[in-house]
Amino acid sequence: MKIAFELNGAPVDLEIEPRETLAEVLRARCRLTGVKLSCEAQVCGACTVLVDGLPVSACTYLGYEARGKRVVTIEGLADESGNLHPLQQAFLDNFALQCGFCTPGMILAAKALLDEKPQPTHDEIIAHMDGNLCRCTGYLAIVKSIQQVASASKGKDEAAK
Ligand code: FES
Ligand code: FES
Repeated sequence: MKIAFELNGAPVDLEIEPRETLAEVLRARCRLTGVKLSCEAQVCGACTVLVDGLPVSACTYLGYEARGKRVVTIEGLADESGNLHPLQQAFLDNFALQCGFCTPGMILAAKALLDEKPQPTHDEIIAHMDGNLCRCTGYLAIVKSIQQVASASKGKDEAAK
């Protein structure tokens, strides 16, 4: 079947099998291997991408369900000049990744949270990130990174007043 959607800001037209997951479409057809596959059962969050701004598990979301929607992967977060998204930079600054396998999904899930709620509480961060698992970091640096970006945006908002 033919599908068309927006991928990291650019239009995409593809011919896919109806059974293909969005993760398969993005990794195999679009060559966006920042979309990671681990449990393939909507448990670990490694495959998280944004669809119309909301985090979805691309391992269980069918590719055709993205028709007409906006899909964002980790490859779409840096700006045109190659500057990292603040969350990407904060993860680097705080050593919030080791093997990095969970990191694209973590950052996209965190982006969805901050887009919806720019200054979440600590508990809200924990609750929102509950579906993204990390085997390496112990989570503290991940939460710190998200808090750092939230604080920076608060500072900018106050400076603009
Ligand atoms: S690979 Fe999709 S949730 Fe684990
Ligand atoms: S950094 Fe290795 S799983 Fe999270």
